[in-house]
Amino acid sequence: MARKKLWGGRFSSDEDPLFAQFNDSLPFDRELLEADIEGSLAYARALERAGIFNPAERARVEKGLRAVRKDAERDPEAVLRSGAEDVHSYVEQALYARAGALALKLHTGRSRNDQVATDLRLYLKRKETGIARALDLLLETVAELAARYPQAVTPGYTHLQRAQPVLFSHHILAYGEMFLRDRDRLRDSLRRIDVSPLGSGALSGTVYPVDRRALAADLGFASAAPNSMDAVSDRDFVLDFLFFAATLMAHLSRLAEDLILYNSSEFAFVEMDDSVSSGSSLMPQKKNPDALELVRGKTGRVFGHLVAMLTVLKGLPMTYNKDLQEDKEGVFDTVRTIDACVRMVQRVLEKIRLQPGRMREAAARGYLNATELADYLVAKGLPFREAHDLVGKIVMRASELGLPLEELPLREYQAFSPLFEEGVHEALGLERTVSRRKELGGTSPAAVQRALAAYRKRIRS
Ligand code: ARG
Repeated sequence: MARKKLWGGRFSSDEDPLFAQFNDSLPFDRELLEADIEGSLAYARALERAGIFNPAERARVEKGLRAVRKDAERDPEAVLRSGAEDVHSYVEQALYARAGALALKLHTGRSRNDQVATDLRLYLKRKETGIARALDLLLETVAELAARYPQAVTPGYTHLQRAQPVLFSHHILAYGEMFLRDRDRLRDSLRRIDVSPLGSGALSGTVYPVDRRALAADLGFASAAPNSMDAVSDRDFVLDFLFFAATLMAHLSRLAEDLILYNSSEFAFVEMDDSVSSGSSLMPQKKNPDALELVRGKTGRVFGHLVAMLTVLKGLPMTYNKDLQEDKEGVFDTVRTIDACVRMVQRVLEKIRLQPGRMREAAARGYLNATELADYLVAKGLPFREAHDLVGKIVMRASELGLPLEELPLREYQAFSPLFEEGVHEALGLERTVSRRKELGGTSPAAVQRALAAYRKRIRS
C-alpha cells in the first residue's frame, strides 16, 4: 500500500521499502512535533495576513492543529504508528483528517526546507533556555560548596604532583569560572539562534505576500533571516550549541576526574554520598563513583556529535541537501546528555563531603612549601634562580632525613646558606603559605572570599 506522500505527483512507482525506511525521519524527528505545530500555527496566521486564508479558514486550521497536538500528547506512539515519512508529513496528514483540504493549503509558499530549519531552531531555543536554568543551579551549588569549606587547605597539583597548597574553595571556584564561560557561550548561542527562516520557501524566497518579519515576531524570533538560501541551509546554530555542549562536557569531565581521584582511598580527600554511588556485585566493600564516571564517559558522545555535524556541513553544496536530516539525532542526544550530566554533577556536589584533615595532611607532606622557602631567600636578597637551586638541594637533604621543611633544624639550613635565620620555620607554615597569595586571583582566604563574593554577583547577572 502506497503511503500518502507530500511529493508523489511526478512518481510512477512506489518507494522501495528499504529506501523508505532509510529515508524516513519520523522515528526521531517526532521530537519536533511541538515545534512543528507552533510553526504551523504562526504560518496559518501569516497566510491570513497575506489574504490566502480567510479568518474562518485560519481558525479551522488552528483548531485542527491544536487537536493534533492534544492527540499526540495523549498517545505519542500513535504518531509513530502513522508510518508517515517525517514529522511535517505527519502533522499535515493528521490535520487533513480534521480540516480536510485546508491542511494542504497550509503548505502554500512553504517548503519543508524552511519548515524544518524553523522547527529545529524553535526546539533548540526552548531546550537551551532549560539548560541555562540547570546551569544556573550548578553555578549556585559551586558557590555553596566553596562557602561550606572556607578554610580547607588542599594540595594544588601540576603534572598530578603536589605543587603548592591551595584552598579547596579556590579549586572548586576554578570550575565556577569554567561554568560561567559555558553559560556565556550558551547565551551567545541563544542570541544567534534567534533568527526565523520561515517564509524562505524551498530556497529562493516566497512568491506570496508573507510578511516574514511579522511571522518571525509571532514565533518569538528576534529577526527574520535576510537571505533565503542561507536560511534553509544554515545549521551554524547547531554547531554553536554542540560546541558549547562539548566544552561544557570537557569541564564536567575534568571535575568528574578530579573528584573520582579524590574519592579514591589513595587520596580520600572527599566522600561521595551513598545516594549517588553504587556497589559492586562481587566485592562487598566497594562504593563506586559511577555518577561521575558516567559523566566522564558520556563526554565522548557529545564530542562525537560536534565532529559529526562539522563533517556533515563541510562539503554541502548550496542549499538544502538531505544530508541535513542528519542534524537532528546528535542534537537530541546532546540535549538529553548535557541536561542529565549538569543535573547529576549538581547533585553530587550538593551532597559531597570533604575530609579536610586528609587534605591538610597531604598538603603538609611533599614539600609544597619549597617555593615559599625560595621566596624567603629572595626576600634576603638572593636572585630567584639561585634560591631555586639551593632549595632543591635542601629538599633533597630534608627528604634524606625524612623531615618536612618546617622541621629541618636551623643548623641544617645554615649549612646551606648564612642567609637562613631564626624564623625560617614560621615562614614555611601551611596557612601562611596560602595566605600570602593575596592579590587578585590568588588563593589566600581573603582573596578567595572576595572572589566568592564577586562570583556570586556574576552568576546572578
Ligand atoms: N526530514 C527532512 C529533514 O529533516 C525534512 C526536510 C525535507 N526536505 C526535502 N526537500 N526533502 O531534513
